[in-house]
Amino acid sequence: MTTLIQKVGRLAVKTFRREPKLSATAFNAHYEQLYNLLNTVTTQDLNLDHQLLYDRGTFNASRDGAPVTYMQLYEDSDVTICVFILKRGVRLPLHDHPGMYGLLKVVYGAVSVQSYSFIDTAVEGKQSGLMGSRPLPGVFPANKHQQLKVCASDPACHLCPGEQNIHEIYSLDGPAAFLDVLSPPYGPDERLGMERDCHYYQEIDSSWTAPQLSDGNRVLLVSIPTPSDFWCDQTDYQGPTIGEDGDEHGS
Ligand SMILES: [Fe+2]
Repeated sequence: MTTLIQKVGRLAVKTFRREPKLSATAFNAHYEQLYNLLNTVTTQDLNLDHQLLYDRGTFNASRDGAPVTYMQLYEDSDVTICVFILKRGVRLPLHDHPGMYGLLKVVYGAVSVQSYSFIDTAVEGKQSGLMGSRPLPGVFPANKHQQLKVCASDPACHLCPGEQNIHEIYSLDGPAAFLDVLSPPYGPDERLGMERDCHYYQEIDSSWTAPQLSDGNRVLLVSIPTPSDFWCDQTDYQGPTIGEDGDEHGS
């Protein structure tokens, strides 16, 4: 019997495989199917150990260990499927997903998601007849989207290479867990011969450096090192094994 999470895994592999790559029409159809299937995933489908979701109250690193736990379900050269578990009141700092698609489905608790989209100043400059202007090296204009509260009964959030590609995620009112489907994966990309690193950012007050950007939604993001209060530990996935083409095992 193929379980729900195995179906999600198989469909994610099909959708995001780059060799051979799907046509745009087929990609859209597969993506929509994947989105709908993902929206039905629960902690039971992942066989998630409820000890991992235990609420110890206000996070205390010396007592509780890492603020965030990472669990990998599947990874190949084109897609990563994983779960992030956030303890109470912690966050995945503002980070990007270079050239990546992402689907984020909360399966436990609730999170706030603050997303941003980089503004392509070169394109915008051409359209407006003005010079594209990046304020400073390591500083990037971005559109700030409405902050969302997302819980386990809500549908998945999307991100794609050019839209909502940067986000910060806080747990709300206790521990939270979400399933992430990311493509292509972070790390070495042999198909493109490059390294896809995760970068961290901080929003800065742009009203004094770039008044033309301060129209409410437009902000500046500055690249920063990995915040010292953020780190992950890892735990093993205990749910049904995900394989590519019907080679799943497990219940
Ligand atoms: Fe992310």
